[in-house]
This record gives sequence, structure tokens and C-alpha cells, in this order.
Amino acid sequence: VKVEQRQAALLRWFDAHARALPWRRVDLGGRRDPYRVWVSEILLQQTQVVRGTFYFERFMQAFPDVQALSTAPLEAVLKAWEGCGYYARARNLHKAAQQLAERGFPDTYKGWLALPGVGPYTAAAVSSLAYGEARAVNDGNVRRVLSRLWAEAHPSEAWVQQRADELLDRARPGDWNEALMDLGATVCLPKSPRCPACPLSAHCAAFASGEPGAYPAPKRR
Ligand code: ADE
Repeated sequence: VKVEQRQAALLRWFDAHARALPWRRVDLGGRRDPYRVWVSEILLQQTQVVRGTFYFERFMQAFPDVQALSTAPLEAVLKAWEGCGYYARARNLHKAAQQLAERGFPDTYKGWLALPGVGPYTAAAVSSLAYGEARAVNDGNVRRVLSRLWAEAHPSEAWVQQRADELLDRARPGDWNEALMDLGATVCLPKSPRCPACPLSAHCAAFASGEPGAYPAPKRR
């Protein structure tokens, strides 16, 4: 019951407050372009959303679809990646584009995981956002939000993944994942969380503790 209440509260918030980002565009069937989802998720691993939006639009102008990307010379891809850092990501995008153009787009988590440059985060994001597969993403925002919901000061990777899997809304996995990302980026902020604006504060142990900003504790080293 608790899980369903949290899911309903966060998805209601997301329906009202989702950020209009270019990779979230849907076609008439309500589907997202897996090419745009994939490129954006690679890009956003090293760039904040505001700057990432600029680089994303520039990259899409240069390479609007996987055909354009797969047939472009590597130098042109690296040029379009300028400012985004980590050129290995651009090389992997180019290499993976050739496989995608040749064999088509995989429609499962496991299929995406087999592509160059695609790890568990990207595979979970693409398979949930573009294909509706029930896969929970696990990134820094998700870790912080879940750490606070349970007031777990030292969440391990395994703990975060387990909580994320349990809480995932299986009817709307893509929306659920992006709702957690948006909540982490705009409300459940690292230093000064905006708890009065949070749809989950009534279900949040860190909020109840009176010191939500104390979770998660800084990593010991
Ligand atoms: N950061 C990484 N992926 C994102 C997405 N799909 N929406 C918003 N922020 C993100």
C-alpha cells in the first residue's frame, strides 16, 4: 500500500511538472524516438541538463537519425561532440550507430547492454523510456532521493538498486524513472532540499527526521 501511495503521489507531480526536454518529444502514437533517447542519455552522463540541451540540439542538427550518424566520418562526429568531453563516448556512439543501422534497434534492456558504450544505466534508461520495459535507473539523483525516503545515510549500490526495483512503477516505468530524475534535479536538491514542494515529503523518513539535507552522508574515503 505504501509503495502504491508513493508511486501515485510522484507520478501525479510528474504529470503536472515534467520538464519539457527535447529528447522527451513523442510521436502521434505516444512513442519516443529511441535514437534521441539513447544519444541524450549518453550525453547527460557528463553534462547538466541545461547545457546538455544545447549540445543535444546541435548534435541532432548534425545527425538527425541513426543513418546520418552511422555514415558520417568519425572526425565529423568528434567535431559535433566538442564541448561535451570524454571523446570515448562519441567514438562509441559512432561505433554503436553502425551496429544499429545494420541490425536495427534492440527493444530490450539486454539487447541495449550489448552495444558499445552502453552500461546498465543507459540500457535501463533507453529500455524504460523508449520501450516501456520495467527497468529502474540508478544514478546520483535516484541514490539521493531513495537515501532520504528511508533515511539511509550510507546507501550501498546494492541497496539503492533493490529499493529502486521495489519502488519502480511497472505500469509507467519510463515516466517513473524521469519523475525521480526531475525530483532529484529540481526539488530533492543535494544541499537545500525544497521539502514543502515535494510530493513525497509525507512518505519521507529524512523529512520526518528534520534534517533531510543530512542524507546521504558524504562518502567516506
Ligand atoms: N538526466 C539523465 N537523463 C535524463 C532525462 N531523461 N531527463 C532528465 N534528466 C536526465
